[in-house]
Amino acid sequence: MTCAPAIGSVTVAGVEDYFGETVAARYDESSAEMFAPEAVNPAVDVLAGLAGDGRALELGIGTGRIALPLAGRGVPVSGIDLSSAMAARLRAKPGGDGIEVAIGDFATTRVEGTFSVAYLVYNTIGNLTTQDAQVECFRNAAAHLAPGGCFVIEVGVPDLRKLPPGQTVVPFDLSPTHWGFDLYDVATQSMSSYHARVADGRGEFRAIPFRYVWPAELDLMARLAGLRLRSRWESWDGKPFTHESEQHISVWEKPLG
Ligand SMILES: C[S@@+](CC[C@H](N)C(=O)[O-])C[C@H]1O[C@@H](n2cnc3c(N)ncnc32)[C@H](O)[C@@H]1O
Repeated sequence: MTCAPAIGSVTVAGVEDYFGETVAARYDESSAEMFAPEAVNPAVDVLAGLAGDGRALELGIGTGRIALPLAGRGVPVSGIDLSSAMAARLRAKPGGDGIEVAIGDFATTRVEGTFSVAYLVYNTIGNLTTQDAQVECFRNAAAHLAPGGCFVIEVGVPDLRKLPPGQTVVPFDLSPTHWGFDLYDVATQSMSSYHARVADGRGEFRAIPFRYVWPAELDLMARLAGLRLRSRWESWDGKPFTHESEQHISVWEKPLG
């Protein structure tokens, strides 16, 4: 699964933080293609439209890739993140001091007030490695929403079609300085991304655990949280979601009444 690789981890509020100082220092550079305007602007357009005159809450706000341009569009943005190091990078950027970030687990941490939109992008739902935690995350997002508000997730469709019988590993990157592999356990829906990297002439090997999750399973989690599916696209510019889609942007809404 594509996301910035973790270098070691520490425990915050009972949850492993894989985005410590070393990862945070490199995050923007190692995810450079996700910071490109072609990747950011369509997402910000959708989220600004859903926010309307209300507020936005980003779960796993990171270094502000989406939050800062969204705030730049006049939307008040708050965030939750486990990693103080990632939040410090956000705070140091222009406009970062205007974004309130609560440090904690986004499955359980509450922030003040209600929001028109809550969102969780860049495969980050998978950082919650149990089904229970993912269900809690939906409940937490729903609890922050005003009636009519929306919860948005951007996540890859599990790559299991690439696994022939008996095989458990899918390579996702092979370059002169980086080799990336996902290791799947289809019995538990757990997945680990392994990264071997050459940086400054030195080799590094790190792994980060995920739980992969299907669109239909997410819909059920949304129902458990009192939300219902409003839209599902392949991309932020509204391409239809099909059997060939490799990712989806899903929008669930909190009923008005
Ligand atoms: C792949 S990064 C995405 C950051 C940002 N949303 C973006 O799109 O660039 C995942 C972020 O989620 C945070 N995170 C992972 N698991 C978390 C959890 N259980 N609670 C809060 N934050 C978490 C990480 O610290 C990291 O900042």
